[in-house]
Amino acid sequence: MKNDLTLSSSTLALEMGSSPQTAWRRLLAQEGEGYISRVVTNEGQRVRITERGALRLKAEYEDYQRIFEGLQEVRIRGRVVSGLGEGEYYISREGYRRQFSEKIGFDPSPGTLNLKLDEPFGLDESDPKSIRIEGFEDEGRTFGACRCRPVGIEGIKGAIVRPDRTSYPASLLELIAPVNLRKALGLADGDEVELVLR
Ligand code: CDP
Repeated sequence: MKNDLTLSSSTLALEMGSSPQTAWRRLLAQEGEGYISRVVTNEGQRVRITERGALRLKAEYEDYQRIFEGLQEVRIRGRVVSGLGEGEYYISREGYRRQFSEKIGFDPSPGTLNLKLDEPFGLDESDPKSIRIEGFEDEGRTFGACRCRPVGIEGIKGAIVRPDRTSYPASLLELIAPVNLRKALGLADGDEVELVLR
């Protein structure tokens, strides 16, 4: 996860028990998916697992935990941080609010509570619990699509919201909830919050 690996197709072929051509195609496919990055050097190539690749592996790891350890809940911890103060404007758009009500079952309190995690959190289409919120136009402006994932926030039913296009890193989570979470839970910047994913 942390280091580059110098890898030739023939070494990988031995590991996989396949032909070097198959190993080569596999590497190219992984690169195409954005799961690894590759730099060709004199000794062969240096391969590194990207953040996207690490998140994909982690999702698989969590699947195995559910299957073999009966782990039904995933807990994530993060710390409250302030954002750019734009969440309120976005979350209040009728085009988003209607979809949140229909698809996740509550009318969100304006804004998002931001949590800084120690590691990136992936939320992609392959997650069966990810809910798609479509983009729309309002007063001549375009509002982008996003994905949501219902979560429990210290006993309150809310959701993680991840815009398809965002300037935030994957280690920053934006939460919506039917209530103002800072007020309801007495939170301030730097406080730790635990989320439960079911
Ligand atoms: O930019 P930032 O995310 O900090 O602000 P915002 O999204 O415009 O939200 C306004 C304020 O309400 C922020 O302090 C959020 O942390 C807070 N908030 C909350 O406590 N609970 C929510 N459900 C939504 C927003």
